[in-house]
Amino acid sequence: MATSAEYRLGEYPFGRGWYAVANAAEVGREPFNVHYFGQDMVLYRGESGRVVMLDAYCPHMGTHFGKAPHSSTSVSETFLEGDSIRCPFHAWRFGPDGACNHIPYHDGPIPPAARVRSWRVEERYGIVFCWHDPEGLEPDFDIADFPEWGQLGWVSWAGLEHLCDLQHPIEIFDNMSDVRHLDHLHGTRVKGYENEYDGPVMHQREAAAIVEDNGQFGDTLTTLSGYVGPGIAFGHFLELNAKEIICATPIDDGTSRLWQAALMKVPAGMAPEQAEQVRRGFSDSFASGLKRDGEVWATKKPALVPMQMPGDGPFRQSRTWYSQFFNPRTKTAEILCRLRGIYTAKGMPPFTPMPEAAE
Ligand code: FES
Ligand SMILES: [Fe+2]
Repeated sequence: MATSAEYRLGEYPFGRGWYAVANAAEVGREPFNVHYFGQDMVLYRGESGRVVMLDAYCPHMGTHFGKAPHSSTSVSETFLEGDSIRCPFHAWRFGPDGACNHIPYHDGPIPPAARVRSWRVEERYGIVFCWHDPEGLEPDFDIADFPEWGQLGWVSWAGLEHLCDLQHPIEIFDNMSDVRHLDHLHGTRVKGYENEYDGPVMHQREAAAIVEDNGQFGDTLTTLSGYVGPGIAFGHFLELNAKEIICATPIDDGTSRLWQAALMKVPAGMAPEQAEQVRRGFSDSFASGLKRDGEVWATKKPALVPMQMPGDGPFRQSRTWYSQFFNPRTKTAEILCRLRGIYTAKGMPPFTPMPEAAE
């Protein structure tokens, strides 16, 4: 395992961006404890339905809000009151903005320092995402878009499947530019490939034949994938009418959690239950592809500086793009101006979409 500083990513240990922190179904009227970005946080669903994520430790005497379930909760019989949460030790109550809004034995004004950090969270696609920004600024890009999720005619994931915990998320991100592992590790025959960088979005476009059960190469499939920020990857499998989300969230500096889920268009004439089975099959096969990578990621040494050959994919350029999130925003333009146009690998045909797969 190696840290962001050892990878020389920039000034911050955790990159700016949106990250998955829970499935929406996991967050209810009980504290749900998480640990990401080297910190402990507690999530809960307020009475209004909104999801709240607060730093977990009470400013009064340091109690973890979600780890003393045997407190008598004598004030309100619950830790949650409206959209606020009470500390299990002395029942100070904190609102969704993180400010203490009630101390049961204190009549005077509540000191401004009686507050914890409230994280910006968004519930989307059955997933709770949080905005992490070392500079504490508002988001400058959105969560990756999956407009088909929950729409009629599509079978959607209910939430993310936790695949594994791994080393630094850059090792997962490198996959986006690693064209040469596709044939060998995943059994495909790549026929066209390119990467492109566009502000906070990175694209990988690929046409590849997949090896069939009989060992022969089958039809060419087109995959449009990429990252939106450092925490969320998307994949669109055009001929399959399926999409995948992959989320990587830093746990501590040098470790990360990997999740995945898939959705697909309901094939014409197929009953919804059967379509869900087919979606499950797609999702499992995408996940099993990722698990092949996972075996490598879980046991490899950190690639602090990949020994890049001309025939490899553009690791260096991709890492440059990735580094924008680990530095102050004032450096973004300078970082991105080092990347221009489309990149592929020496000896690799450029990507040309199959006519029937063009969007
Ligand atoms: S430690 Fe939280 S109210 Fe006292
Ligand atoms: Fe891979």
